[in-house]
Amino acid sequence: MSFQTDPIGTLRRLAREQGEVATFEWNDTRCYLLSNPRQIHLAFTHHDLHKRQGRGTSHKLLGNGLMTSEGDRNREHRKLLRPLFAAGEKERWAQIVREQVAELAAGWEDGQEIQSLQEFGRMTMAVACRVLLGRRLPEEALIHEILEKVLQDPLADVRGPLDEIAQRLLLEGKGPMVEMLLSVPMSDELRRDELITMLLGAHETTGTVLSFCMRLLALYGGSRASARQVVGESLRLYPPGWLVARMADQDVELEDLRLQAPCAVLMSAMVNHYREDLWENPHQFQPQRFPDHPASGTFFPFGGGRRICIGESLAWLEAEETVEYLRHRWVFDPIDRGPVQLLPLASLRPACGLPARLRRIHSGSAAAGER
Ligand code: HEM
Repeated sequence: MSFQTDPIGTLRRLAREQGEVATFEWNDTRCYLLSNPRQIHLAFTHHDLHKRQGRGTSHKLLGNGLMTSEGDRNREHRKLLRPLFAAGEKERWAQIVREQVAELAAGWEDGQEIQSLQEFGRMTMAVACRVLLGRRLPEEALIHEILEKVLQDPLADVRGPLDEIAQRLLLEGKGPMVEMLLSVPMSDELRRDELITMLLGAHETTGTVLSFCMRLLALYGGSRASARQVVGESLRLYPPGWLVARMADQDVELEDLRLQAPCAVLMSAMVNHYREDLWENPHQFQPQRFPDHPASGTFFPFGGGRRICIGESLAWLEAEETVEYLRHRWVFDPIDRGPVQLLPLASLRPACGLPARLRRIHSGSAAAGER
């Protein structure tokens, strides 16, 4: 067993054997795996810890968009795009999500077999386009397909078609995100990078979370829990952002811990979300125990600090609205009820598309699975 073949198992074993600061070598780089919540919080906010610079596979796809940029550029572009996610937008998002989930479910039939991941991927893509661009795009299916391809093969060259879509959007000059990007001096290449980053970042993760929410509800029930708790517990068990990495070029101190540069600092939700001293019976889905405000460093599906996910508030709202809508109307009976094989790629995903047989809940009858 190695980090290459079984990254989650390896990280958990290292944390078990070495404790809250585990060290190991990976690709000639000294790595620190932190699992102490306080140190994780300090690492997320430390100014000398940055995302990996260079021309790696994510740069090839995302260029210098928010996910991959550093320093002043990242700060300035976050500031520019932050109004997209302002609290005042929530009512508009909720309306969009309710419309899109209703449209999705309108095409379903009782007893139909679906691939949950595919269904929710389509829906979250539509939501992302409407929220960010103010309208649906004819290329939604294509963008979704490209992302699927690149997740399976990070070296796939898919920038061409994405650039064409982004270029067209910039020429049309319409929609909230495009208008923001055009309001300040910036190269067209950077504008395309930001558009592609946001369109890709906005949908696949949320689609995965929704697929797991519906599976977990069908398998274990959860009628006493709020939609937020269902989403939170699903994010705890299956966090798409399962590993966050930072680099240090100079020694870094996290209170009394000294990290020797050059090094990588790793923080894994798949380690901390399963710590028995932080979460009782961590392998069980118990949504009603999910706290209103989980302590920092015990739950971090959206990362933390300066680089915390910019779309976190949209992701929560979208997932909660969708779960609330569907839980009273449909049960997603899993075709395979066994443990899900997970693929820890750039994001954590199920190896299969989470196939399920849809069962309509008739009003008046209790939702099956509400145990
Ligand atoms: C459940 C859904 C989501 C999950 C689990 C998730 C997870 C994450 C995580 C863990 C990071 C931090 C990565 C790091 O620090 O290395 C991140 C960053 C980011 N996310 Fe999300 N995300 C979700 C939804 C979204 C949505 C809806 C959007 C956009 C609409 C979005 C856009 C971004 C962007 C642009 C960044 C980079 C921010 C920066 O580095 O400055 N994400 N996300």
